Amino acid sequence: MKYFLDTANVDEIKQAAQLGIIDGVTTNPSLIAKEGRNFEEVIKEITAIVDGPISAEVIATKADEMVTEARPLAKLHPNIVIKIPMTADGIRATSILSKEGIAVNVTLVFSATQALAAAKAGAAFVSPFIGRIDDMGADGMEVVKEIMTIFKQYDYQTQVIAASIRTRNHIKMAALAQADIATLPYKVLMDSLKHPLTDLGIEKFLADWEKVSNK
Ligand code: E4P
Repeated sequence: MKYFLDTANVDEIKQAAQLGIIDGVTTNPSLIAKEGRNFEEVIKEITAIVDGPISAEVIATKADEMVTEARPLAKLHPNIVIKIPMTADGIRATSILSKEGIAVNVTLVFSATQALAAAKAGAAFVSPFIGRIDDMGADGMEVVKEIMTIFKQYDYQTQVIAASIRTRNHIKMAALAQADIATLPYKVLMDSLKHPLTDLGIEKFLADWEKVSNK
């Protein structure tokens, strides 16, 4: 499973990239707004750090406006993926952009039928929002499993990004569901590297080593 970083914070991206396990980055308008910086400037900086798909989301809600906004964004760097919200207009825009060879990540996906429409429109990626589905008392991971089954059954090449990931358990469950990608907030990524027994183990190894190191 590929790991994308779900942030627009350049410092976090730099730190995470040093691990050597980051395959791409996803941003959204909320994440960009949090940084309080120029959108294109941030996106360009990210492309210089991570060599993989970098999702940048359009703000427009009408299909023709989404397309107009997407085209220059896509020209910023060959790795840019245009994030389009999952609406009827979004599907129209995805069909147009995909035919032009522009990679689209259909976002705000909450059901298998939404994902199926995105795949049919030629989306390169779909992003089901696990955490937000869980928040409503349903099972977000079930939606990922359904999408994986349908895409495999019909051999769709659209890659599934498990998004709105909140915990390390979400990462594990996404991998077990065979999601192509999980997009991770920096904190969740770093948490997923830790285990209390690892820390205790290191402490014990070092203490034991200390006992004999002066001999
Ligand atoms: C990524 O593509 C999504 O925008 C992001 O994962 C949403 O996460 P949230 O539900 O925690 O805002």
